[in-house]
Amino acid sequence: MAPATILRPTRAEIRLSAVRRNLQKLKKTAAPARLLFVVKANAYGHGAVELARLAEREGLVWGFGVSSVEEGLALRGAGVLAPVLVLGSLYPFESFVEAINADLMVTIASLDAARQVAEAARRLGKKAVCHIKLETGMGRIGARRPSVLKIYDELSSSGAVSVAGLYTHLSSADSDPEYTGQQLAFFSETSAELELRGARGLALHAANSCAAVKYPVSRLDMVRCGIAAYGLAEGFEPALALKTKIIFIKNVREGAYVSYDKSFRADRGMKIATIPAGYGDGYLRRFSNKADVLIGGRRCRVLGNVTMDMTMVDVTGVKDASVGSEAVLLGRQGDEEITAAELADLAGTITYEIVTLITSRVPRVYLE
Ligand SMILES: Cc1ncc(COP(=O)(O)O)c(C=O)c1O
Repeated sequence: MAPATILRPTRAEIRLSAVRRNLQKLKKTAAPARLLFVVKANAYGHGAVELARLAEREGLVWGFGVSSVEEGLALRGAGVLAPVLVLGSLYPFESFVEAINADLMVTIASLDAARQVAEAARRLGKKAVCHIKLETGMGRIGARRPSVLKIYDELSSSGAVSVAGLYTHLSSADSDPEYTGQQLAFFSETSAELELRGARGLALHAANSCAAVKYPVSRLDMVRCGIAAYGLAEGFEPALALKTKIIFIKNVREGAYVSYDKSFRADRGMKIATIPAGYGDGYLRRFSNKADVLIGGRRCRVLGNVTMDMTMVDVTGVKDASVGSEAVLLGRQGDEEITAAELADLAGTITYEIVTLITSRVPRVYLE
């Protein structure tokens, strides 16, 4: 939750126009398949409520994917009415009651969960809507093929549950076409088997952003896209920028140390800026002495260890850098850009983690 009063200059700016264009592009690419906008983990740090409202208001998506009942309830609490699928496997089983009450569709990946959701629906006297999840090689949650058939029989004979979909998750759509093909083939065989058992009208879905863009065969009835909507996939526009302002500036002599553990020592006289952003904001300590920050349209190196609330930056070459000058940690300034991919490389991680880790104390500011 963003603080009510925003004084500290550190903020994440989210360009709604970029999200809009990304969703329009995904929708067009996927059609006639439907688009499920994955907004779990606070829309990968971008703000789930604001982006879901935008997408719903403008009819950009069919529905939303979240990871937990809590995330789904947050959308419902904000007035989002579109279909919401909880992608996680629900536990404790009392979660089904909350989910059914709030019209959240749930994922069923075990026979035990199938029995529990049917029981919860019967008790409430309200139909539960489920998507069955098949394990095809992701190795996270998902029922194996024989269990899927049993789950389907259990749910469809319960009279309390509507089985609306069958899905799987691709583990390596961006790195291994052969494995992806095997996952998709196994999925198609299983859906065909379910059809033989009388299953009709199930929404079949498998594709994440990468698969939806790269593999038309993976689109099936619906695609579930997150990262491309946020512009962190090739051909899409990054929506989020992390910005702050210089709060302190000093000149140091040769030999001066900067930050904890003396990990940087000036080898000449330098002008150093302090910015109010650190690992408490999700600006990783792994960026210490490695990342660049944009100030005055130039790349300025982080000096010493990133601390919890502040980071020091070399502004020796930026003559007019002063207290109040803008500093861009992620995003564009002038002709320069720090991308999430660049930061992810420095930290040995992926772009998903760079944006998702921006902490809740950083206000999200939405720009049209
Ligand atoms: C089950 C499921 N579907 C879809 C997605 C969206 O993936 P992406 O952000 O790569 O589009 C995720 C995200 O991890 C997921 O867990």
